Amino acid sequence: MQFDLWSKGLASLEAECLVVGIFDESELSEEARAVDSASGGRLGQLVSRGDFPGRSGETLLVTDLPGLKATRVLLAGLGAQKTYGRKAFRKALNAAVTALARTRIASVAFAVARPSFKEVDDYYFGRIVAEVVGSALYRVNDLKTAKKPKPHALESVIAGAVKGSGAAAAKRGLTHGAAIAAAAKVQKDLANLPPNVCTPSYLADQAKALAKAYSSVRVTVLDEAGIRKEKMGCFLAVTQGSSEPPRFIVIEYKGPKAPKAPIVLVGKGITFDTGGISLKDPPNMDEMKYDMSGSAAVIASLTLAAELRLPLNVVGLVASCENMPDGRAVKPGDIVTSASGQTVEILNTDAEGRLVLCDALHYARRFNPAAIVDIATLTGACVVALGAHHAGCMSNDDALARELVDAGQRADDRAWQLPLTEEYADQLKSNFADFANIGGREGGAITAAAFLSKFTQGLKWAHLDVAGTAYVGGTHKGSTGRPTPLLADFLIQRAGR
Ligand code: BES
Ligand code: MN
Ligand code: ZN
Repeated sequence: MQFDLWSKGLASLEAECLVVGIFDESELSEEARAVDSASGGRLGQLVSRGDFPGRSGETLLVTDLPGLKATRVLLAGLGAQKTYGRKAFRKALNAAVTALARTRIASVAFAVARPSFKEVDDYYFGRIVAEVVGSALYRVNDLKTAKKPKPHALESVIAGAVKGSGAAAAKRGLTHGAAIAAAAKVQKDLANLPPNVCTPSYLADQAKALAKAYSSVRVTVLDEAGIRKEKMGCFLAVTQGSSEPPRFIVIEYKGPKAPKAPIVLVGKGITFDTGGISLKDPPNMDEMKYDMSGSAAVIASLTLAAELRLPLNVVGLVASCENMPDGRAVKPGDIVTSASGQTVEILNTDAEGRLVLCDALHYARRFNPAAIVDIATLTGACVVALGAHHAGCMSNDDALARELVDAGQRADDRAWQLPLTEEYADQLKSNFADFANIGGREGGAITAAAFLSKFTQGLKWAHLDVAGTAYVGGTHKGSTGRPTPLLADFLIQRAGR
């Protein structure tokens, strides 16, 4: 996809389609007024007749308006002018691209009102347009045998007008936005695959492909013997009931002029979570194929760092296996020794994410990281606490938590900090081992983080629980690609944008 900005007058833009934003029950926007006067008042007539009320998310294709080079105009509803902001801007762009994707239109120019500069500066303007175009064009890689509908024809997008010195920032935004959409697609495509295809070995192959594609990326994959050598007893306990071999994947991206200490991203890569001997209920169990979303977000983020050549060192660690019930599976009451040497009583085999993560977090120490962020679909309790809107963010470093929450805010991929004070760790007491892997129903998202914190002492570490945000169930079942936009913003900011 080709992205650009326009500088000529609206009327002389040569795109096949001009997208014009229309507010609900208010005056025409500046952009719409320009189109109106070029078309001899036709647009204003159409709107005042009530043919297009401008409700948020609605579109109407109008052909052959006079006075314009563009042969079509797509009206996009912006909703009420009073409340117009980033969300309505995104919604209008998304609706417009969705409508365009059903046509054969190849080139489009946007003439959609921008929210206030405070809400969307030139950089984020470009970034939002390119990101929304990319995400609206996403199609799931399904395995249906019916003939696929024709793919969209869109090739070129002119995002809008940006005056003077802002143009460079907007163009950088366009590049970054396209990379964020592409990275989110990496996450979605991996997560949407069936669990018999997206296995730990498959994830490892995807990581290796990344090293092939970018000379800045190096990948090392540990098999079961390698994992045993690292004494990852907790990880091994989770995988032991599965006949699918586990993989521990190390992805190292070295950026130009980067500070030495890397940012380490750690992903939960359970390619299917049955719960193990503590078996889950059958309804919606298929959704546990999404239990590798954290690791998909790590692979996606490393892709983005390499694609944008961010001046950072980033290490991605993926601990990947299945959680299955079996004659050899780990049992409630089993005690295992983690790579850190601490012993863990596994009271519930369904609390497996923290077991694979704790050994990966310990592995991260050898990189002397500037910061560690783990990403995991870790607890149902986090879904109860925050729903599908915010990821849970817990950290032993408030500044790092703040940084991630702010990144999520800017990226429209929000996270909310939950308290991680000492008391929660008391709930993990075990009579027989250093601690247990569960802490009861109360504060379940936090006790899971408290478990992880036992392995990150002395490190700047944050944990993102994305159980509620990484995918949606029901009729629109699918991966959301979250929290890749948040992580992208975090990395881009660390790189000095
Ligand atoms: N993968 C699940 C968490 C999950 C639940 C993700 C719902 C997405 C939606 C995790 O491995 C799990 O099973 N957690 C248990 C922990 C409990 C046994 C302490 C849970 O949340 O029930
Ligand atoms: Mn589980
Ligand atoms: Zn799980």
